[in-house]
Amino acid sequence: MSSLTPDPSVSASAPVPARHPRLDPLADRYAARTHGMKSSEIRALFSVVSRPEVVSLAGGMPAVTALPLDAVGSMIGELVSGMGAQTLQYGSGQGDPRLRERICDVMALEGITDASPSEVVVTVGSQQGLDLVTRVFVDPGDVILAEAPSYVGALGVFQAAQARVQHVLMDDDGLVPEALEDALIECRARGDKVKFLYTIPNFHNPAGITLTEERRAKVMEIADRYDLLVVEDNPYGLLGFDREPMKALRARDAERVIYLGSFSKTFSPGLRVGWVLAPLAVREKLVLATEAQVLCPPSLTQYAVARYLDTQPWQQQIKTFIELYRERRDATLDSLTALMPPGTSWTRPDGGFYVWLKLPAGLDAKRMQPRAVSAHVAYVPGIGFYADGQGTEYMRLSYCYPEPDQIREGVRRLARVVEAELDLHSTFDTVDTGRFRAVRPATPQVPVVEPITGPASSDTVGDQP
Ligand SMILES: Cc1ncc(COP(=O)(O)O)c(C=O)c1O
Repeated sequence: MSSLTPDPSVSASAPVPARHPRLDPLADRYAARTHGMKSSEIRALFSVVSRPEVVSLAGGMPAVTALPLDAVGSMIGELVSGMGAQTLQYGSGQGDPRLRERICDVMALEGITDASPSEVVVTVGSQQGLDLVTRVFVDPGDVILAEAPSYVGALGVFQAAQARVQHVLMDDDGLVPEALEDALIECRARGDKVKFLYTIPNFHNPAGITLTEERRAKVMEIADRYDLLVVEDNPYGLLGFDREPMKALRARDAERVIYLGSFSKTFSPGLRVGWVLAPLAVREKLVLATEAQVLCPPSLTQYAVARYLDTQPWQQQIKTFIELYRERRDATLDSLTALMPPGTSWTRPDGGFYVWLKLPAGLDAKRMQPRAVSAHVAYVPGIGFYADGQGTEYMRLSYCYPEPDQIREGVRRLARVVEAELDLHSTFDTVDTGRFRAVRPATPQVPVVEPITGPASSDTVGDQP
């Protein structure tokens, strides 16, 4: 071919300058699993909630300033000056053996008395634990059962793994066993591969609900009957206000339950130390997966947690946290009762960080959000806690971070916003433009149910003026 003859193969592949350069020139090269990735409702709020004039009932940030900061500071300083050769060095993929022993002591407080340090894998927060378990078990298209609503960070992990999430109804007593069984039957009939049930039995994020003893037994009985693996996510279990911690699901079945724990809520989220407790065969896969991901969890923060558990009154500190969160929970519930307009209802958590609020009929928490931000109060719209577009009428309120006075002011602002929205709604509803109605998916993928707002443990102010 002469040099004057155009070579079609060359011209076809030669880069053609785009007339309208694309925003992201790599857009068509990303892996398929990135397509479902999106910023969570919570992350989207970050820039707003950090403004000083805004009362944030949005983020689930623990009250770390209640820690003995000087003592923790000197402890960490000594770990570097006295043990730098270990604490500043790489460590084992499975995590520091001393810390894994202490983790077993922590889990014993929730009835897990048979765990061996060899079954524990230390992770970068329980979030990494969730990711590892998902990587080890889930292929694209597999089904994961999860409460409706469910932890937004878990939904993100499941979405990135291209799993399909099927929600299971919750009510005031937690996950509904009959609904779990129905979901399993449905999945079997469709030929779905259900890889596990993901559940948060204690002080649920975002619902604030705790699974009752009776239901724990039923859920595990169903799991046994259907050969279902259970992933128990338990970062809040030691933060109960009114009673001793409940027995973990893992304490009932060591083979069928993979347990995720965390020091984020009982010590510090900034240290990023969590763990997975799993049967030995699973543990082996988890260690391989974590080594591929991070080589090993950070040595310094592992030593810091182990030293904290060895030398500081950590159980007393948990009691301090409990008192602080109880006061904030009370401020939230009292203000909601005093101020929210009729038709609003909410859960009454007896531990943890969150209240789950249902707006009066027809209101949509996501649509109301700009009005709330203008009124200097922030919350997380409920829709982010579902994988299927449910939850428009719900919001999550976190009471863990703001002081009680700020909480009262935040709820006062929120109540005004809801009232204003109701006014607007009723005005437009008379004209019936249809625009202010809550939007539901035209064909819901799961039956639309009325979860977790029954009379047993939730407050309703429907009858008040
Ligand atoms: C239910 C649940 N699981 C897991 C996590 C992740 O916690 P971490 O990675 O800080 O241990 C959180 C954090 O809020 C949570 O609420």
